[in-house]
Amino acid sequence: MTLLDVKNLSISYQTRGGPLQAVEDISFALDKGKTLGFVGESGCGKSTIGLALMGLLPPNTTVTSGSVRFNGSDLLSLSEEKLRQVRWQKIAMIFQAAMNALNPVHRVSDQVAEAILAHTPGISKTDALAQVRELFDLVEIPIKRMNDYPHQYSGGMKQRAVIAMALACRPDLIIADEPTTALDVIVQAQILDEIKSIQKELNLGILFISHDISVVADVCDHIGVMYAGQLVEYGHRREVFESPGHPYTQELVGSHQALLGAQCQPQSAPSAAPNLLSPPPGCRYCDRCKEGGDTCRTEAPQWIELSDNHRIFCCHRDPEE
Ligand SMILES: Nc1ncnc2c1ncn2[C@@H]1O[C@H](COP(=O)(O)OP(=O)(O)OP(=O)(O)O)[C@@H](O)[C@H]1O
Ligand SMILES: [Mg+2]
Repeated sequence: MTLLDVKNLSISYQTRGGPLQAVEDISFALDKGKTLGFVGESGCGKSTIGLALMGLLPPNTTVTSGSVRFNGSDLLSLSEEKLRQVRWQKIAMIFQAAMNALNPVHRVSDQVAEAILAHTPGISKTDALAQVRELFDLVEIPIKRMNDYPHQYSGGMKQRAVIAMALACRPDLIIADEPTTALDVIVQAQILDEIKSIQKELNLGILFISHDISVVADVCDHIGVMYAGQLVEYGHRREVFESPGHPYTQELVGSHQALLGAQCQPQSAPSAAPNLLSPPPGCRYCDRCKEGGDTCRTEAPQWIELSDNHRIFCCHRDPEE
């Protein structure tokens, strides 16, 4: 069953230099209980998509086209009041670097209880704290540490607390923006396992945002690869990760050769992504592409189906190749 259906979403920020097209013509769908990962380098528009789904884009933003259907209703046309009933209760977000935003002067349990109290009319503080206990159990924070302050927590525990906060109202969809980026690899692996098991237990839909394709491939059912505001590849995790079709995804996967078992050094990118204030007319990746030709500079890329479940946005690739 489709939980989230996004079609042709384009978002621009008003800046001093003019409109900056942060997200352009992005479409994807997410089924209930499934995980979709968005991967791409810094500034490619991942967080902007997450904030748009939460209705939390800053005031200098315009959604220039597209629709966002969540559980059948169009999120973009909801009034702020209706949106408030969806936000946190149906769709929650683990913000990028959220664990650093825990308030240092309040106990962690009180901060999670606060989230429950704010969104559950009529609930008593005692009942909210009972729910916090259940949530801490779910994210495996020892109950005896419940009443500690944030500085008494390790990074991994803070991140678990932030996940507990996102789960406070038992949403159907969680947007997890770089939830493990600040953690060492061991703790990252533990938290990713935790997220996978919570997802199964609660049948959550997760939109997982990361710059690390190996993390996304580990957690997600489907992967969307973004470059300079556009989706350039979309498909089932295995197809995208094991047979990447777009030259950019090949570059990303190539830089994680260790995961595929090959012994080679990651390659550095030969040039930066284009300026989104004045993106080039053709393919945005062409300056970095090892395979593109002159036409890629002027021709707009097209979606090319590589299989039922796998497509790339590219100018020159022949699907029969
Ligand atoms: N409030 C804003 N005003 C103007 N431009 C913005 C604003 N927020 C983001 N941008 C720009 O929009 C583009 C997309 O930003 P976004 O934060 O969505 O990228 P991201 O993929 O999440 O990057 P990162 O991996 O660094 O978190 C970038 O060029 C960024 O500079
Ligand atoms: Mg971001």
